[in-house]
Amino acid sequence: MERTFLMVKPDGVQRNLIGKIIERFEQKGFQLIGAKFMHISNELAQNHYQEHVEKPFFTELVDFITSGPVFAMVWQGEDVIAKSRLMMGKTNPMEAMPGTIRGDFATVKSKNVIHGSDGAESAAREIALFFKEEELITYQKNIAAWVN
Ligand code: PPS
Repeated sequence: MERTFLMVKPDGVQRNLIGKIIERFEQKGFQLIGAKFMHISNELAQNHYQEHVEKPFFTELVDFITSGPVFAMVWQGEDVIAKSRLMMGKTNPMEAMPGTIRGDFATVKSKNVIHGSDGAESAAREIALFFKEEELITYQKNIAAWVN
């Protein structure tokens, strides 16, 4: 089953969007298998965003992601990498469609509420950066057993 790394950024945490964001992925049918409320160190931020090191906004990006706590998650499900990117909407919230997370909650690219891995390689890399394998919990859902 495919896995991806998703993270509610500091603006999403400050704006009380953690619950709403989790709800969307749960409703879609994906399974949360890891979660961590944490401050990102400067070193981890530089590592996480290493592909953007040459970009003019790199310092701003690192300063922003380390400016407050984030909610880091691993989600599992069929085609979860591509589907979660669709659910997040375009990086620039002004281009993100209504109904997507960024389309509904964000207005500027530098504060766009959520990060999600953009492919299988980055998902594996980002999951390993933020989580140890033993911190990921896979289990069978059996809703009927919990309602009677
Ligand atoms: S690029 O140049 O197309 O590769 O970059 P892009 O995909 O648009 O953005 C990469 C990530 O950088 C964030 N971003 C910014 N953060 C802070 N300040 C500024 N000015 C800025 N511009 C872009 C953008 O939200 C992307 O973050 P992630 O976490 O990968 O979604």
